[in-house]
Amino acid sequence: MRFHVMTLFPEMVEQGLSNSITGRALKEKIISLNCVNIRDYCENRHGKVDDYSYGGGAGMLIQAEPVYDCYRSLISDIPNSHKKRVIYVTPQGRPFRQEMAEELAQNDDLIFLCGHYEGIDERVLEEIVTDHVSIGDYVLTGGELPAMVMIDSISRLVDGVLGNDSSAEIESFHGKLLEYPQYTRPEVWHGKAVPAVLLSGDAARIESWRKEESIKRTRERRGDLYLDYCRLVEAEEMLVRYGREYADLRNLLRQGCGELVRKDGNRLLMRNRRDHCYYFANPTMDPLTEALAKGDRDTAAFFEKTFELTKRQTDSGIHRLVLHDTNDLKDAGRLMKIFRLTEARRMVLLVYTPRERPGNARIRALKEKLADRAHPELISFIEQGIVAGLKEGMMPVCYLNEEERFPAKELETFGIYRTKRPVLVLS
Ligand code: ADE
Repeated sequence: MRFHVMTLFPEMVEQGLSNSITGRALKEKIISLNCVNIRDYCENRHGKVDDYSYGGGAGMLIQAEPVYDCYRSLISDIPNSHKKRVIYVTPQGRPFRQEMAEELAQNDDLIFLCGHYEGIDERVLEEIVTDHVSIGDYVLTGGELPAMVMIDSISRLVDGVLGNDSSAEIESFHGKLLEYPQYTRPEVWHGKAVPAVLLSGDAARIESWRKEESIKRTRERRGDLYLDYCRLVEAEEMLVRYGREYADLRNLLRQGCGELVRKDGNRLLMRNRRDHCYYFANPTMDPLTEALAKGDRDTAAFFEKTFELTKRQTDSGIHRLVLHDTNDLKDAGRLMKIFRLTEARRMVLLVYTPRERPGNARIRALKEKLADRAHPELISFIEQGIVAGLKEGMMPVCYLNEEERFPAKELETFGIYRTKRPVLVLS
C-alpha cells in the first residue's frame, strides 16, 4: 500500500508515522509514505499559497492551482492500472469508520489532501477528490492529524504490518461488540482478584464469559452498537430457522463482514462490506420476482427505498445482488435497471457447510468423486473453500450454474446442497 499526502506540513505527517508499528512497516517497506509540500508548487517567490475568500468572511483559503499542480505531479508517478482514491480530509466528509478503513485498504495508492486555514478552493476539490472524509464531529486546525489517523488504521489492515504476535483479526459478527475486560499478572492487585473463570483453563467457559462481558459492556457504554448487535442477532435467528437455504447470508454474519442494510418483517437485505455484494432474502413469502410481477407494491417500495439508502451508503454503489427465492428471469431486467447492474444469471445454490472438520483425505475423496463430472475450476473452488473453512472456521458458500452437471446426492456427504429454488445473481 502506498500512501501519499499533499500537505503544507509534510514533516508533521512523516514524524507522526515514523514510530511504533507504522514506523516499522515503513522501514520494512510493507507500506510507503510520500509526503508532498503543496507550497513547492506555488508560482510566486514568497511561497504564498493562500488568499482571501470571494464574498468576504474570516480567514484565508488555499488556492486551486498549487493543489492541482501538486496532484498532477504526484499522480504522474502512479501507474494507471493502480486502484487509487483521492481523499480530502474535512469535517464535512463522511464519517471514518472501521468499515471504511477496510474498504480503503483494498486500494494500491491512497492520496490524502490536507487542508489548512479556512479550507481549499472548491473548484480543485471538484476536479481531483473522490472522497470527502471526516474523523469526527469536531474541528481541528488542519487535515494532517486526520490523515495520520486514517493511515494508521488502514495500515494495520495491510498484510504483514501487524507481524505475527498480533493480527487484525477478521472482525467476528460479535465484533460489533466492545472488547471484554482483560487482566495480566499479578493475580491479585490492590486487593482485586482476576475473575476465577480466566484461571480455570476451560476454553469454552472462558469464551462464553468473555462474550457475556462484551455484551454487558456494549449495552452499558454504547447503546448504539448494542442495538446494531441485537438487529444482527435477530436476523441470524430468522435465517437459522430456514436452515441451509440461507447459509450464504449466515456466513456473512459469521465472518463479520455482513451489514444489515434493511430488515422489514421477513424481507432482509444484507451487504458484504468487503466486496459490495448484496443479498436479498424473503424467506416466507412468494419469490421476489413474482411479487414484482404481481405489482407487490411493498416489495417494490422496499427495493426503491433501499436503492436510495445504498446510494448514500457507498460511493461505488451495488456491484452484485444475489436474490434468493426467485423462480424466473422475467423481472430481472427491471431489477437490473433499478440497480444499474449489467448481467443476470440463474444459479442453483450449492452450499458447503463443514459439519465436521474434514481432513486431507476428505478433500482427496471429493476430488475423486467429482473428477470426471465437474469442471476443474469448480473442484479447486470447493477445495479452497474447505481449506479456508478449516482455517477460519467459516462456512464457504458457492453458487453454481444450473448447467453444471454435478452429482447432487453424492455431494451432500460433503455438505454441498441444492437449494429448493434457484437464485438469481445480478451483476
Ligand atoms: N479537518 C479539520 N477537522 C477535521 C475533522 N474532524 N476530520 C477531518 N478533517 C478535518
